[in-house]
Order: sequence, then structure tokens, then C-alpha cells
Amino acid sequence: MIRAFDTFSLPLLRWLDPEDAHRLAIQGLRLLPPIKPRPDDAKLAVRAFGLNFPNPIGMAAGFDKNAEVPDALLRLGFGFVEIGTVTPRPQAGNPRQRLFRLDRDEGVINRLGFNNDGAEAVLRRLASRAHLGGIIGVNVGANKDSPDRVADYVRLIETFAPVASYFTVNVSSPNTPGLRNLQQGHILDDLLAKVIDARERVREKAGDTPVLLKIAPDLSLAELDEVVHVARSRKVDGMIVANTTVARPSSLKETARAKEQGGLSGRPLFRLSTRMVAETYVRVEGAFPLVGVGGIDSGGAALTKIRAGASLIQLYSSLIYRGLSLVDDIKHDLASTLLRTGRESLSEIVGADAATITAEDWPI
Ligand SMILES: Cc1cc2nc3c(=O)[nH]c(=O)nc-3n(C[C@H](O)[C@H](O)[C@H](O)COP(=O)(O)O)c2cc1C
Repeated sequence: MIRAFDTFSLPLLRWLDPEDAHRLAIQGLRLLPPIKPRPDDAKLAVRAFGLNFPNPIGMAAGFDKNAEVPDALLRLGFGFVEIGTVTPRPQAGNPRQRLFRLDRDEGVINRLGFNNDGAEAVLRRLASRAHLGGIIGVNVGANKDSPDRVADYVRLIETFAPVASYFTVNVSSPNTPGLRNLQQGHILDDLLAKVIDARERVREKAGDTPVLLKIAPDLSLAELDEVVHVARSRKVDGMIVANTTVARPSSLKETARAKEQGGLSGRPLFRLSTRMVAETYVRVEGAFPLVGVGGIDSGGAALTKIRAGASLIQLYSSLIYRGLSLVDDIKHDLASTLLRTGRESLSEIVGADAATITAEDWPI
């Protein structure tokens, strides 16, 4: 049924303005009948941050910013869904046009700028579906005009703890000026100390909510050293590697579109983000698991990301080019690989290629 939906909808959606197409896709998912998803192969189950994921494939942040369709996405076969980025107050984001497809590269550039309905509306939606279960992460960020960005994150942790399966502290969007400065050692240390503190304050009534840190793929290795050091010392539960890139690989074919300002995602991000997963993995030394995201568009790409060091993966841009059946295709490929190689679970291959990848030439 999903494959038939893809065949019909992909050409139509690709013909529309990308933001209109996204809106239509969300509306379509709202109408999805409450079909029961096929149970996942038990070998695909992953335990990470104290949570039991039925499969390792998550919907990355930015698709369902306002928690309108998390359950439809779970029904389509995702093992988890990350909603947001949510900011405390509603925000319009940057002026349109702010989302661009790079068709020949199977990439996307966005400069949306945290357009979202704000914490109150999103909390209401999540609270109304809380009884349904499933792993729903809440990705949090600061309002563009906030006088105290750290206070924004703290407030969001306190607000969403009762309904979030985990939090993602997003300090890596390139579209809120200055946001990525929060990745600097001493600023990050202060932010994470206060975020973890807030999580502990609400632990009694909300339970233990894992906190993940989402970083940019554009950090230098010296900056990554510092970020991992701070993340480990503040005892975050995991890291998401990575957000969109401000770099423009020389291999891009859509050279005119590539000049648009914003974060690049999709296939052109794959090599850089995979390298950053491997670089992070060797620095983390098993202290916590990683979520690998960036350019995953096939079972092979998912496997490469896992072998680079990702315990879980997320995707977004490739859905525009491959459709929703990609989720099933990747699960099928991962399960067949496990069967063929006689392995019991994906955890046996997480990070298997990290050392090799970090020794390669830097991807450009
Ligand atoms: C249109 C769009 C909007 C996004 N919005 C967010 C966001 O609000 N918060 C966030 O952390 N990441 C956001 N991302 C980044 C994705 O979560 C992901 O890290 C990135 O796109 C790389 O994955 P992909 O190549 O599979 O798309 C967005 C990406 C796209 C394409």
C-alpha cells in the first residue's frame, strides 16, 4: 500500500513548491487509516539510552516540527520519531522561499529558521496521544529573539519531560544566527549543566528522560574534541551526528541552487556526516550511543552509518526522492545482512569501520 502511495504521490509532490509539498504530505499522513504496522524482525531491536527501539530507523527532526503526525509515522514503520525543533514561543521562521530541492544531487537546502507552533500547542498534541506509546523524541531549540537562550532550553525540558521519550538539545541549526556558538566548550558546558539539572528536577514526576546533543557536521576535529569532552563530563545520554551542513561539496551538480543560503542535507551530506559519526565514535569510547543521520537513502548507506558508529539512524531528505517505502526497504536490507552474516543483532557491527573511516582522506 505504501509503495502504491509512493508511485502516485512522488511525481505529484516533486512537481509542487517544496514547502507546499511538505504541507500536503503532512495532511496526507493525517488521513492515514489506523493500520497496524507489521511487527519488526526481532533482530532489528535496539536498546539505547534505556529505551527499547523496535527497529533502528527514526524520522529525523524537521519533518514533523509540530507533532501533527507522529503516530502515522510510527505506523509507517519508523522505530521512533523525533518531533521539533520546538521553541518556547511560536515562531514564523524566515521569509519564503526558504526550502530548495537539488534534484540532480538528491539534496535539499533549507533555511526555515525554526518555524513552529511553539511549546504550548505542541505539548497539547503530544499529551493527547501520550497513551498510545511509541518512542517520540522532542527536539528543543531557542527562539531567535530570545534574551536568554539557555533559559529557553531549560524551560522546554521542564515543559516536555512528561511526554518526551528523549530530548534532543539542538545547538546545530545553521538557520538561527549564533545558535551554533552554543557548541563552544564553555558555553556548551553551562548549557548542558543547566539542561541536565532541569531534567533531574523534574525526574520525580516525569521519570528519567534521556538527553541527546545534536551537533553540526561542520565542526573542526579540535572543536569535536571539546564537544565530546563536555558531553561526556556532563553525562549526556547520547549524541546525534549530524545536522545539515553549511559546506557545499564541489561535486554538486545543481550549482545555481547550491548558492542558496542554508543547511544542505540529503545524499551530498552522506560522506561528511558519516566521517563525523566515525570521528565522534572514536572519541566517545563507548560512553554513550550515537544516532547517525545525514544522507541515508538505502540499506547500504544505513549499514555504512552503523558500521561508522551509529547505534540508531535517522533520515529525512531521502524520503523526498525515494518515498516512504524506503523505511521498509532499509529494514529488509538490514535484516537480510544480519541473516547472511549469522549475526544476532546490529549491535555487533556498530563502529566496526570507525577506525578505518577516520584514517581515510577527508571527504570534501
Ligand atoms: C526541511 C528540513 C528541516 C529541518 N529541520 C530541522 C529541525 O527543526 N531541527 C533539527 O534538529 N534538524 C532539522 N533538520 C535536519 C535533519 O534532522 C537532519 O539532521 C538532516 O537533514 C540530515 O539528514 P538527511 O540527509 O537524512 O535529511 C531539517 C532538515 C530538513 C531537510
